[in-house]
Amino acid sequence: MAFLINPFISAALPILLLSFPVWAKVDVTMEYSVEVHVGERVEIPCVYSITEEPSTVMVQWFVKGGASSQRERIFYGDDTMQIVDEGTDFTERITVSPADERGEIVLTIQDVQLADEREFICQVNGMSAGNGEGKTLLKVFDPPEAPVIEGVYSGISVSSPYPTKIASCEARNGYPRPNITWYRDHEPLIPLSGKINVVTLVTRESSGLYTIQSELHYKVAKQDKDALFYCEVSYAVPAAVGTADSKGINITVHYPTEVVELWKESPEGLVKEGDTVEIRCRGDGNPPPPFTFTRAQQPEVELDSYPDLLLLEDVTRADSGVYQCRSLDLDTYAEAVGEMQLTVHYLDPAVVVPRDTEILLKGESLTATCNAQCSVETATVWFKDGELVGKGHELFLQDISFAATGEYICKVTAPSLGGLQTSGSLNIIVQGTPEMKGSGRREEMDENVEKWVNLSCEAQGYPKPTITWSITGSQTWRETSLKVTESSAHSLVTIQVTSDTTASCNATNVLGTQTRSFSIKAIPVATSTTANTAVTVRVTPPRKVQKEGSGVIIVVIIVCILLLAILGSVLYFLYKKGKIPCGRSGKQEITKEKTSKDDIVVEMKSDKTEGAVLLKGVNGDKKAHNDQ
Ligand SMILES: *[C@@H]1O[C@H](CO)[C@@H](O)[C@H](O)[C@H]1NC(C)=O
Ligand SMILES: *[C@@H]1O[C@H](CO)[C@@H](O)[C@H](O)[C@H]1NC(C)=O
Ligand SMILES: *[C@@H]1O[C@H](CO)[C@@H](O)[C@H](O)[C@H]1NC(C)=O
Ligand SMILES: *[C@@H]1O[C@H](CO)[C@@H](O)[C@H](O)[C@H]1NC(C)=O
Repeated sequence: MAFLINPFISAALPILLLSFPVWAKVDVTMEYSVEVHVGERVEIPCVYSITEEPSTVMVQWFVKGGASSQRERIFYGDDTMQIVDEGTDFTERITVSPADERGEIVLTIQDVQLADEREFICQVNGMSAGNGEGKTLLKVFDPPEAPVIEGVYSGISVSSPYPTKIASCEARNGYPRPNITWYRDHEPLIPLSGKINVVTLVTRESSGLYTIQSELHYKVAKQDKDALFYCEVSYAVPAAVGTADSKGINITVHYPTEVVELWKESPEGLVKEGDTVEIRCRGDGNPPPPFTFTRAQQPEVELDSYPDLLLLEDVTRADSGVYQCRSLDLDTYAEAVGEMQLTVHYLDPAVVVPRDTEILLKGESLTATCNAQCSVETATVWFKDGELVGKGHELFLQDISFAATGEYICKVTAPSLGGLQTSGSLNIIVQGTPEMKGSGRREEMDENVEKWVNLSCEAQGYPKPTITWSITGSQTWRETSLKVTESSAHSLVTIQVTSDTTASCNATNVLGTQTRSFSIKAIPVATSTTANTAVTVRVTPPRKVQKEGSGVIIVVIIVCILLLAILGSVLYFLYKKGKIPCGRSGKQEITKEKTSKDDIVVEMKSDKTEGAVLLKGVNGDKKAHNDQ
């Protein structure tokens, strides 16, 4: 109210006092100020009241302020006319409503300009009733553009003793003058000596608008590396304050390395020989300082490394030890060291005792061991012919039998080293006199004459036994099968029973002999004996001829050649003596020889039979073949 009264007193009173009787009075009431955005339309009301009814009322609008300090009329109106003054800033943009019954006149301005921020004076002249005036200040607002922030992107060191510029912010073209406030993580930054300085530059544009530039100078600390900085522009709007934020920025803070960490990046789990190991080093400083890797036992030897990575290829147990990583801060020359222990695990080849091949006597015992040097716990198992025969690094074989002969493989595994394993082997050979099933007793059999009987001898032993047969009684027999392995022999003979027969087989090696014997009692078959015998007689001779064919022919030829040689030399001798004529005598001799040759053939046959029996003992296989 104070503002509404003051202009009235100061402007209207002197006129009233000088020109008119004291009782006549014109009251003009206006708002102190009216606020509007640039470009909008504004209405400025003016209300008047007159104490006595006037003959006529005249209204004039003036503006004051701006370029000139003189008041300038922009409108005139009375009962007869309404005139907008020509040639003013407002000529095209204003209208004035005629007074209503309450005495309110409204000045309307279109498209308000920044330059319209002036005083608008409404003067009412009631003629004999006197005159009065009031004024309203038009406040114009134009919000600035959104603020634009620019950070300082080079790193800022915490060791800098003074606040350093970290960002600048600009808000352009605002009216009235906007303010800029800085924020860190949504907390306003209040200037503080030695910590936070804000330098503001205000520019008045030719348009009359303000552009504000603000620089934030700030003493950074390590924790500012993750902070978000932004600026806020605040500006007046009609009856309020508007704000707009810039986008946030991070700043790069440089701070020294205080702690260096060293860790094995790969492989995961335990390291074993042959692995490639990656050791990574990291410091808590920014920017990352250069690192040097060393081994604790040789601190003077710098290991080759990528900036922060030490690569150890194909490691051995010798690479076990303490590794160190050092950083030197180039600002403060402070050194930080990190270290770690690297353990390279190993599993050496398995060593089996006894080595390679062990020859034992049947019935002996043996404790074999299988050991592999290893840095972690191992598990050992023994296999023979693919079957598990023992667990643990010792294998105990007691009262060894021929069956124990063979290859024993021990497998040593280190479960915690990803199944790393090694193996060794041992060959066991069990020596002993042959062992034969059914040895030491006589097997009695009753068989029909002419029947074929199979006799079997199977022996185990090392060195491998040889089996020999001795058969008395029946003459017709042959070995039908012989199976021999490293440590066994199995022979099968088939005998045709012709009379009571005893048979025995010996299984022999250098260590001894085992014998098995059979006794076959021939049972004559009453009805068929003659017939069978007849068959035997008939069948046998052709077989013998066939069997002896090639051997006999060779012998006959050799004998003939010998006889011819003897005959030749006798004839030659007689011829030299002149006793025999050439022609006939020779012929006679040759014929004679042919006759005697036939005699010899018969003799050789019986010889051959004996030879065959002997051969049978030495090499059954060949004999069997000949028999067929
Ligand atoms: C700023 O730092 C914060 C916190 O570390 C992070 O989340 C954000 O991504 C960073 N922003 C930029 C633009 O680097
Ligand atoms: C701008 O700052 C000044 C001084 O602190 C203050 O008087 C004025 O009200 C502020 N203006 C706005 C729009 O916040
Ligand atoms: C004897 O052995 C042979 C071959 O091994 C077989 O064919 C035959 O049937 C056997 N004879 C007897 C009486 O077991
Ligand atoms: C079998 O062995 C015994 C005793 O060593 C011996 O007397 C016999 O002649 C042997 N027989 C054969 C066929 O070798």
